[in-house]
Amino acid sequence: MQTDFLVIGSGIAGLTYALKVARHCPDKRVMVFTKTTSDETNTKYAQGGIAGVWDNENDSFEKHIEDTLVAGDGLCNEHTVEIVVKEGVKRIKEIIEWGARFDKEPDGEYALGKEGGHSEFRILHHKDVTGKEMERALLEAVKAQPNIEINTHWFVVDIITQHHLGYLVTKATPDIKCFGVYALNLHSKKIEKIEAGITLLATGGNGQVYRTTTNPVIATGDGVAMVYRAKGRIENMEFIQFHPTALYEPGTKGQAFLITEAVRGDGAILRNTDGEAFMEKYDTRKDLAPRDIVARAIDNEMKKGGTEHVWLDCRHMDMEKFLHHFPNIHEKCLSIGIDVSKNMIPVAPAAHYSCGGIKTDEWARTSISHLYAAGECASTGLHGANRLASNSLLEAMVFAHRAYEDSVYKINEVPGNEWSNRKNINIPDWRTEGTTAPKEMILITQSLKELQLLMSDYVGIVRTNTRLERAMRRLDLLHLETEELYKTTEVSPQLSQLRNMITVGYLIVKSAQFRHESRGLHYNTDYPFKSELVQNIVL
Ligand code: FAD
Ligand code: SIN
Repeated sequence: MQTDFLVIGSGIAGLTYALKVARHCPDKRVMVFTKTTSDETNTKYAQGGIAGVWDNENDSFEKHIEDTLVAGDGLCNEHTVEIVVKEGVKRIKEIIEWGARFDKEPDGEYALGKEGGHSEFRILHHKDVTGKEMERALLEAVKAQPNIEINTHWFVVDIITQHHLGYLVTKATPDIKCFGVYALNLHSKKIEKIEAGITLLATGGNGQVYRTTTNPVIATGDGVAMVYRAKGRIENMEFIQFHPTALYEPGTKGQAFLITEAVRGDGAILRNTDGEAFMEKYDTRKDLAPRDIVARAIDNEMKKGGTEHVWLDCRHMDMEKFLHHFPNIHEKCLSIGIDVSKNMIPVAPAAHYSCGGIKTDEWARTSISHLYAAGECASTGLHGANRLASNSLLEAMVFAHRAYEDSVYKINEVPGNEWSNRKNINIPDWRTEGTTAPKEMILITQSLKELQLLMSDYVGIVRTNTRLERAMRRLDLLHLETEELYKTTEVSPQLSQLRNMITVGYLIVKSAQFRHESRGLHYNTDYPFKSELVQNIVL
């Protein structure tokens, strides 16, 4: 299979990019691949909304920039922050033109919400299902575009580089090139090679590396692992954001239901199991302090009280307003016997967002040529050590746009561009000799459980040197066993994802071990203070 533009991922980043390149180059082919259905993405579950400077009377670019920098705790790239904040508003206007609807006040102005770390009301939202609405609008626009093909149930296994042509590729190789991907067609069960002029990775986050996460099962860090295997650069992986308030439902597996921070933005209060509103002990911004502070405070209260959750108290809130803004949360709580007007909601932190990822420049270019990355899988420099709430949908659209601008130039206008040379390259088919069908799924499922447990217990909100060492030793063993299995077993999404998640776990632990300080989302009790030497960890 051959295409001009190859897009891996059908969330906000992948679809925004696909739509833009397809409209700009109607004679070119755009192929989008996604490992399950087209809408099963982190994007679909976004609740709170998208941040943008909309109220020009009270808000300003400077304020949004400042809030992002404060949350990022010294590690944001200021140029990137300025790009995202300033260009973000244009991107929001675009998605509105493409059909996304955001809630309005009775006077017709957009209703703006507030979340932790924001000094102003600037979050556009669609009730408490903003991501679902944005995904809907994007999918409709993409499906109406004749030169875009969406391929669902295709699992991308690896990106193709000179390594697959028989050359030695190391981190020191000066010009690693991406020629496309190998992908497992889950309909035919065959691995195909897909050759591409330009490839964009928009593979989302990696929350599934942890036992409790707000992320759906697709969030296994595949893009990051693929780039690392291909010897590309990965950055800031230690900064895993734990959302303070996932619904605590003992006995449920997989994805935890989120109680959006916007509920606290509208006045909800966190209480410990003694009923105390504890956030004022930790930060003057109380319940609306940045997420790292709130999540650590909750963790501390849970440890002190020996409990598995704290409470989120909404009982004093205007219930008519609550129902209007948060119908999905209201319905979910009712379904498990919680009437938010009478009962408090049990909540606990859960892995939510990966601030680091594939290192990209200001045009979303990775360290591998012809390979771009946007959305949660990328590390653009926006979030630094901690992401400001509702900045990620914004970042995804801004960098999908920038990747589009750069790549249409590259594919169209560079004379004798490398893609034309590439037509003479003979990329080998995927080799399956020596592998057999998986005999024991338990080998995969048990290793996955072990991985998620060790990451949650040793590499969670609070870390120590000993915990990180233990995690690394266990990861080494899981890596060894899984590589053996991989060499002898036919590729399946389950095995590939396990392999990718072990790689992501390794990258998180290694980066955490390199950071001899506590900053933003990385808190190590052996190094409780910030170091003067502020740097990004690149692996
Ligand atoms: P995703 O939307 O996750 O899409 C990833 C795509 O990649 C999927 O199509 C998947 O199938 C595909 N893929 C992955 N691996 C492979 C593979 N190997 N082969 C083929 N396809 C693959 N951010 C905000 O700004 N505001 C919010 O209010 C907000 N709320 C959130 C609430 C929840 C519950 C969660 C989980 C996240 C929230 N976030 C929010 C974060 C935000 O939703 C995500 O960061 C963002 O949607 C990521 O978009 P993306 O396009 O990068 O990836
Ligand atoms: C939320 O709605 O609380 C999540 C917002 C985000 O992750 O940006």
